[in-house]
Amino acid sequence: MKQPTVKDTPINFDIVNKKIKESGLTNLGKASIREIVKLVNEIEQESNKKFIRMEMGVPGLKPPDIATNAEIKALKAGVAAKYPMIDGIAQIKPEISKFVKNFLDIDVKPSSCIPTVGSMQGGFATFLMLSKLDKKKDTTLFIDPGFPVQKQQLDVLDLKHETFDVYNFRGNKLEEKLEQYLSKGNISSIIYSNPNNPSWISFTEKELQIIGKLADKYDTIIIEDLAYFAMDFRKDYSIPGEAPYQPTVGKFTDNYILLISSSKAFSYAGQRVGMMVISDALYNKEYETLKQKFGKASFGYNMIYKVLYALSSGTTHSAQHGLWAMLKAVNNKKFDFVNDVRVYGERAKIMKKLFTNAGFKIVYDKDEDELIADGFYFTVSFNGFSGSELLGLLIYYGISAISLDIAGSDRKEGIRACVSQTSSEQFNDLEFRLNKFKEHYS
Ligand SMILES: Cc1ncc(COP(=O)(O)O)c(C=O)c1O
Repeated sequence: MKQPTVKDTPINFDIVNKKIKESGLTNLGKASIREIVKLVNEIEQESNKKFIRMEMGVPGLKPPDIATNAEIKALKAGVAAKYPMIDGIAQIKPEISKFVKNFLDIDVKPSSCIPTVGSMQGGFATFLMLSKLDKKKDTTLFIDPGFPVQKQQLDVLDLKHETFDVYNFRGNKLEEKLEQYLSKGNISSIIYSNPNNPSWISFTEKELQIIGKLADKYDTIIIEDLAYFAMDFRKDYSIPGEAPYQPTVGKFTDNYILLISSSKAFSYAGQRVGMMVISDALYNKEYETLKQKFGKASFGYNMIYKVLYALSSGTTHSAQHGLWAMLKAVNNKKFDFVNDVRVYGERAKIMKKLFTNAGFKIVYDKDEDELIADGFYFTVSFNGFSGSELLGLLIYYGISAISLDIAGSDRKEGIRACVSQTSSEQFNDLEFRLNKFKEHYS
C-alpha cells in the first residue's frame, strides 16, 4: 500500500498507521464497506477525532413519523404475535400498486406487489428463483458499477455472473454491448440500479428502451433496482400521477422485476422492509421446470409460496404497517417523500464543489451529454492515484470512502463518496482536510 509521504496529517499519523496494521487489511482498495466502517470506528475512538464518513450508504435522516406511529399502533394492537401473510398484509398490496402507477406510470396488479425484507431479500429471492427456470440460462449480467453485496448473494448461492462497466457504453453503444452478452444464450437476467450505486449515473429513456427491447428479444428478465427511487433531483418526480415519472424499464418490456427499497427514499433502512414488483405478465408466466420441481408452474406463485416462504415466511408485520402508512399518505398527496430526501442533492452539490476545488475530478460525470445529478453518491479521483492509494491516504486526512474497484468498475482511479452522513456543520472541516491533502499531494 502507498505510504503517506507527509506526517503532518489532520488525524494523528501514528494512530492511523497502527490501526491499519492491526486491521490486517493490506489493501484498503479491496476492503468491504463494513471493514472500512470498523477501521474508521477504531481510528475515531483512539484519535478522538470525527471523520467525514463517506464509506457507507446509511440514511442520515430521521424516519417519517407517519411510519413510526403506524408501527407503534400496529404493535400495540398485537400484530407481533401474528404471522403476516407471506405475500404481504392485505392493505399494502393495492397501495404498492397505486404507488407504482403514481410514480412510474405503469400498471401492475396488487397481487404482483410483494413486501420483502429489504430489497436485499428481494434480490436474493429473485436470483434464487431465476436459477430454477432454465438450465441453459444460468448467469446474471451486471451492468456495472454496482452494489457489491448483490454479487456476494450470487456467490452465496453458487450462481454465476458476468459484468461490464457501462462507462464506455452509454447511449446507443449500450445495445451492441448487451447483444454481445445476450447472444451467447446463457444470460437469465440483467441487473442494474437506477440511479446507480455507486456512480450516481442514471440511465436515459433511450438506454432503458434498449434494455427493454433486448429483454424481449432474448427473453431475459430485467431486475431493476430502484433503491434510490425518485432521487435523481434534476427532475421533479414528486407529484403522484403527474409527469415526469421515475424512468423505468417497465415502460419498455413486460419482462421485469422491480426492487423498490424503502431504506433511502423513505429513510427506513432499519426496519428492513422493501417492495418487489413483478410485471403481471411475468407473475403469471408458467414454467415447466417450476411445475416439475414445485408442482405449480406460475412464476409469481412460486416466488411467494416457495422462495419467500422458505427464506423468511414473509416480512415483519409491524414494518409492513409502517411502510403501508407512508405509501398511503404519499399516494393521497399527504406526504412528499421526495422533498424529505432532497437535502442529499443539496449536500452533494456543495461537497462535489469542495472536492473539485481541491483538485479532485468527478469520475462518472455524465449521462450521455448531460452532467449527472447531485445525489446520494458521487465518485472522485485525484492526480493519477489509484482508488486504493487514494483511500489509503485520505484516511490520514479524516475522510473515509470506498474504492470503485469493489463495485465492478474499470475506473481503478476512482473512489465512491456517500453524502448521507456528512452534515453541513462538517463542511468547513472537509474543506480544510481536502486542502491539506491538495497541499501535500498535488
Ligand atoms: C443499489 C442498492 N440496492 C439495494 C440496496 C439494499 O436495499 P435494502 O436496504 O432495501 O435491502 C442498497 C442499499 O444500499 C443499494 O444501494
